[in-house]
Amino acid sequence: MKYFIDTANLNQIKEAHDLGILDGVTTNPSLMAKEGIKGESAVNKHYQTICEIVEGGDVSAEVTTVDFKSIVKQGKKLAALAKNIVVKVPMIPDGVQAIKWFTDNGILTNCTLIFSAGKAMLAAKAGAAYVSPFIGRIDDSGWDGIELIEQISHIFTIQQIDSQILAASIRSSLHIIKCSEAGDNVCTCPLESIIGLTKHPLTDIGLAKFMEDAKKFA
Ligand code: G3P
Repeated sequence: MKYFIDTANLNQIKEAHDLGILDGVTTNPSLMAKEGIKGESAVNKHYQTICEIVEGGDVSAEVTTVDFKSIVKQGKKLAALAKNIVVKVPMIPDGVQAIKWFTDNGILTNCTLIFSAGKAMLAAKAGAAYVSPFIGRIDDSGWDGIELIEQISHIFTIQQIDSQILAASIRSSLHIIKCSEAGDNVCTCPLESIIGLTKHPLTDIGLAKFMEDAKKFA
């Protein structure tokens, strides 16, 4: 499974990249706004900086338009910013049409805001490189996000669909493990959920003991 970080914060992207396990980055308009990035040229520059940090890993840059022509126009500009930009497109009818256009024109896409298997299937049919189910938001609504990953994974396997399942809206380290079990291809995570995978009290207790004993033969 690949590990992406779900943030537009450069320090967090660098920290995850320095771990040596980072495969890519996803952003969205809310995450960009959180960093206080304003205006098209600042946004574009920010994407380029992210693309440089991850050295070729896929970076999802989301369109902020909702009709076919505008999505295509904006997506083309985003794709031209760097070789590793993946255009993130919402799962709406115009988005599906735009994903097909991007696919036919050699531009990779990540179809976002997926909350059902049907949406994932149609995004894949249009040629999305990634389909992004929002598992945390599904859990928040009383459904089971991991069950959706299992269902999409099953469908994509039996139908031999190449699109990668990119689990988004990850809320915990356990989500990452459960996604992996469910056949997910990529998890895009907050930094703390990635770091959480390194944590266990018995590791801390064991390490303290080893460090103490190491002094005995230093
Ligand atoms: O990138 C989209 C997704 O990860 C959003 O997460 O926590 O706002 O539901 P969240």
